[in-house]
Amino acid sequence: MARNPRYDLLFEPVRIGPVTARNRFYAVPHAAGMTNSMPHMRAAFRETKAEGGWGVVCTGYVSIDPGSDDAPLPYATLWDDDDVRSHALMTEAVHRHGALAGIELWHGGGSVVNRLTRLPPMSPSGTSWMATHVGFMGNQRPRVMDAADIRALHAAQAAAARRARQAGFDIVYVYAGMGYLPYEFLLPEWNQRRDAYGGSLANRARLVRELLEVTHEAVAGRCAVALRVSLEELRARPSANAPSEAHELVALLAELPDLWDVKLDSSPTDCPPSRFAAEGSHEAVIDFVKGLTRKPVVGVGRFTSPDAMVSQVRRGVLDLIGAARPSIADPFLPSKIDEGREQDIRECIGCNICISSWHDSVPVRCTQNPTIGEEWRRGWHPERIAKAASTASVLIVGAGPAGLECALALGRRGYEVTVAEAADDIGGRLRFETRLPGLAAWGRLLDWRRGQLARLANVNVYRGNRLAAEEVLAFGATHVVIATGARWAKLLYSPLEVPTGLLEGPGVLTPDDLAAGTVPQGPVVVYDFDNYYMGGVLAEHLARGGHSVSYVTPAGHVSAWTIMSNEQPQVHRALAAAGVAVHTLARVTAFAGDSLTLAHQFTGAQRQLPCRSLIIVGARLADDALYTGLSARSAQLAEAGVRSVTRIGDALAPGALVHAVYSGHRYARELDADPATLTLRRDAPLPRQP
Ligand SMILES: Cc1cc2nc3c(=O)[nH]c(=O)nc-3n(C[C@H](O)[C@H](O)[C@H](O)COP(=O)(O)O)c2cc1C
Ligand code: SF4
Repeated sequence: MARNPRYDLLFEPVRIGPVTARNRFYAVPHAAGMTNSMPHMRAAFRETKAEGGWGVVCTGYVSIDPGSDDAPLPYATLWDDDDVRSHALMTEAVHRHGALAGIELWHGGGSVVNRLTRLPPMSPSGTSWMATHVGFMGNQRPRVMDAADIRALHAAQAAAARRARQAGFDIVYVYAGMGYLPYEFLLPEWNQRRDAYGGSLANRARLVRELLEVTHEAVAGRCAVALRVSLEELRARPSANAPSEAHELVALLAELPDLWDVKLDSSPTDCPPSRFAAEGSHEAVIDFVKGLTRKPVVGVGRFTSPDAMVSQVRRGVLDLIGAARPSIADPFLPSKIDEGREQDIRECIGCNICISSWHDSVPVRCTQNPTIGEEWRRGWHPERIAKAASTASVLIVGAGPAGLECALALGRRGYEVTVAEAADDIGGRLRFETRLPGLAAWGRLLDWRRGQLARLANVNVYRGNRLAAEEVLAFGATHVVIATGARWAKLLYSPLEVPTGLLEGPGVLTPDDLAAGTVPQGPVVVYDFDNYYMGGVLAEHLARGGHSVSYVTPAGHVSAWTIMSNEQPQVHRALAAAGVAVHTLARVTAFAGDSLTLAHQFTGAQRQLPCRSLIIVGARLADDALYTGLSARSAQLAEAGVRSVTRIGDALAPGALVHAVYSGHRYARELDADPATLTLRRDAPLPRQP
């Protein structure tokens, strides 16, 4: 198919200093968990983006010096020649597909605690980045940088820039974002210096200016020099010389970088979940930048719509469309627009599981794209899949996220696939969950698979078909896949998280009851020890629906795990705005029909809370009765010609959507595969050279 001329603009080349990007699609710096310890995985991961049409593909944050060590978070390093060879794997891979390779040189300053290198951290005035995220907390204050430290920093940036050039990078960054060292110099809260680096904005910007200058000098015109800078706080700060300090900063440094890469200031605002921010959410902060510089500007905002991208360029907001998450969810996004296949774009749903993989320090995972991070170690490609190795037919029972992904991948391989769904529509748990506040965008998971499946003549989906074991046997498929999901349990837990038994009785509900249409009686208590989104979002939903709602959790925060997905600050705000009363560090121990007994998680002190409907959001148990029933009939299975019965997704191990999709995909990839090919290839750092 031909490209829609409306999108031609996105395929214009853009000059960035001495290099030229082939189009306006720019995969911005983002860590992917695959550090220098997994160089082949990392190179293959970034190569896939280049193959998918991105004009520029960047690294994640790369430390310039052992004094900037983010362990155990997955930062890369460019400290020596061995690191050069490691990164060269990526630049070669990216260049093979005609893209430019960018590297984000990084010093964490007071945000790092140097757990690995044990060097004392440093910051402009001895202030650390006091974060609420447990992974970022440290117990050593940074030392105040002196003039020698600043000179050493210049030298480290210059040395790293020279190595970057040697490794084959085309764009070399100065990174002044997100609480990291150059950013700390920009903000007076961190920077209380009385020397030439503190005071006026011109002074506070001096370090960034000098880092840009030494980088230019080091790359000697062979690479472009980019500045990535967070502008949210500065834009909120008044200036005597400009509409804000952000305006003043951009005007001060306007022509010094070859590229402005502009972003927001903390991960939850820079990389916000779709639950709380729409596509293009950065515009209100960064819209002025292009007006103050002649250099190209790249920015982000979970862009997946080509019309939104064109609008950014036409309205003079951005020159290059930056993307982290959209390039993870679909590394082939640019190619699909180029080929007139916009409807094939696997749009990011904004769930932020990818950012949780960064917090977990593991290779990046994505709910929409199960192949991400698996390009090298499993040989999975997002757009290609091996042809069927037999004429087997497959019956999948259940059309939730796991069943649908399994059906799609098997269908693409060419198997004859039948999907039987008990409900009147596909979607499993998402049929209910996408109706909850802020979760509509998650429906893209279903919409994309629905659209892709509709094109496969070899996949048939039957709705309203609840199959019993006899019917599965009578169907006569070669392989049966059980994707029947999981159910929320009315289980309570001890302080040590040991199950203490079921709590039954009138007024005791789970999310499944609400999904089935049960209307709770007020006052309602949502008791959450699942700790992901469901407890918080249900409390918000019910409160907005007019109920009096209390939220109770044994954890210290609401939706405690969502600190990993950047949602937690906003969940707290959303519950406060909806009038939900929050009780943390509390366990439910008894329910008398009109009141609950709560025990403090640590002291055991008891108190009563009025409650007529208790919604337990705790454990989920696999809904695997069909699997168990079939497994007990091995003779009949053999007679019916069924060679395997396999559970996938929540029916196997209840988890988040990302696990379900991955599980379904993996089954499809591995059907009929040679067992010798099924092991995980293990990556390792390149051997050090003597
Ligand atoms: C998994 C992940 C890792 C990230 N790591 C970095 C990083 O190393 N350096 C950086 O400047 N930004 C990082 N970011 C932020 C992104 O570059 C980007 O600013 C943000 O995700 C918003 O863009 P998007 O809406 O296109 O995702 C990361 C984002 C994600 C999702
Ligand atoms: S994990 Fe979620 S937010 Fe991240 S890229 Fe995938 S779909 Fe988007």
